[in-house]
Amino acid sequence: MLKLSKTFTNNGKCVRFVSNAACSGENKEVQNEKGHVKSFEEIPGPKCYPIVGTLYKYAPYIGDYNVEKLDRNSLMNWRRYGSLVREAPGVRLLHVYDPEDIEVVFRQDHRFPARRSHIAMLHYRLSKPHVYNTGGLLSTNGSEWWRLRSTFQKNFTSPQSVKNHVERTDGVITEFVQWIKERNISHNEDFLPYLNRLNLEVIGTVAFNERFESFSPQEQDSNSRSSKTIQAAFGSNSGIMRLDKGLLWRLFKTPLYKKLADSQEYLEKVSKEILMKRVTFFVHPDDNDNSLLGSFLKQPNLDLKDVLGMMVDIIMAAIDTTAYTTSFALYHIGRNPEVQKKMYNEILALLPSKDAKISSDIVSKAIYVRSCVKESLRLNPVSIGVGRLTQKDFVLRGYLIPEGTVIVTQNMLASRLPQYIKDPLKFKPERWLRGSEGHENIHPFLSLPFGFGPRSCIARRLAEQNICIILIRLIREFNIKWMGDELGIRTLLINKPDKPVSLSFTPRNE
Ligand code: HEM
Repeated sequence: MLKLSKTFTNNGKCVRFVSNAACSGENKEVQNEKGHVKSFEEIPGPKCYPIVGTLYKYAPYIGDYNVEKLDRNSLMNWRRYGSLVREAPGVRLLHVYDPEDIEVVFRQDHRFPARRSHIAMLHYRLSKPHVYNTGGLLSTNGSEWWRLRSTFQKNFTSPQSVKNHVERTDGVITEFVQWIKERNISHNEDFLPYLNRLNLEVIGTVAFNERFESFSPQEQDSNSRSSKTIQAAFGSNSGIMRLDKGLLWRLFKTPLYKKLADSQEYLEKVSKEILMKRVTFFVHPDDNDNSLLGSFLKQPNLDLKDVLGMMVDIIMAAIDTTAYTTSFALYHIGRNPEVQKKMYNEILALLPSKDAKISSDIVSKAIYVRSCVKESLRLNPVSIGVGRLTQKDFVLRGYLIPEGTVIVTQNMLASRLPQYIKDPLKFKPERWLRGSEGHENIHPFLSLPFGFGPRSCIARRLAEQNICIILIRLIREFNIKWMGDELGIRTLLINKPDKPVSLSFTPRNE
């Protein structure tokens, strides 16, 4: 999709000029010919004041941003300023909406793509050198990030190692389906907390070979290990965005920083206990343990502090993301009976008996189920977009984007705009199905729910597989109906359903 790439000089600096099909026609040609580049400050955006920049937009009464409704802020800005929006909430920030431009941004990515996020968490972990070597995968940049990523990623991403988890994941989810039947879950209950417990149980099994037994009566207590682990994962994630914007925590321990530190400390404690039990592998390697932790510990010379940091990152990154994604998928499926019928027909053909086990072959053949997950992630990705910290100057649509700019690609909003996709607000899984009548040619950089490139989600395959197995089991067993109002989002780093997840489950006889 890129058309032209050349270098020229701007203020004595060598700048890579990248033009693309989306650059507005005439203007682009003039800039190409004259080599004229507009400054970053000329990009349209809200008025910027000295010291506070655009932070006043979040202030009560004066500002019109809602800190938990990033999708609305982003729509408002797109309407006012267009497809590139400049801001200055303490950093130089650029929102990019057009998929052609989003592609240009990712094509600039450095060997070690960087994000500016989880800064308070980085500070917390670096203040405990006896526990951690680094800030972990989520917050570390540069060659140290790559050291961690290259050490751990083969265990997460190789298709074979992901397939190895199908059987045990299915076992945990089958127990959950049984539990729903016995409990006779009603639509008056919020289903989200149960999905949190399920995803703790799945990630506990797959990542650590550890059962939390979170559906047992004792573990449902708010002081149990599973309840506190779920709370601590949420407590870690929910303050990250506000702490990234804030300054006061750098001077003293604000209540939000303290909540982050307490949550991290709890996840550390749980991870350390699990790790200590497993360390005996060095004496008696247990070859039956195909969990992620089992495979980490089989690697020679792995530093246990790195392993501990990875374990905390896994708990933080796995529970809410997968539970929210599954909630939104059930919301869309529960509101679209014709989609659910097609899903059921596919699942019935693959799993004629309810008691049959799900294999990796079944997951890979469940093509319609997988396109439902994709379509749900288009409309409701857990992250409104992807963040990048630029590591060199480049030019986008004739504007100089300096090194050190924070870029947020606005994929969620763009995925809901009619100029990029037909009937954008309709849930149509067929649009992703090659060969089907409803198939559409969608720009590959429009929907990026797992990010892009070497810094993309380390657990993408695993997460997609887990969600597919959950949907296959639930739809095989029940006719599911959405009983609540229209579901929106609250952005607490990731997009949480803004209302209870209200579903009815009618058992199927077949
Ligand atoms: C539906 C579920 C999930 C979604 C939508 C999701 C999405 C994302 C996104 C958007 C990123 C940032 C990518 C980028 O910057 O290009 C990310 C990073 C990450 N995710 Fe996920 N994620 C999910 C589940 C998981 C799970 C289950 C785990 C762990 C088992 C996990 C672990 C991570 C880690 C460690 C990173 C940081 C990677 C790095 O910086 O190198 N995620 N995820």
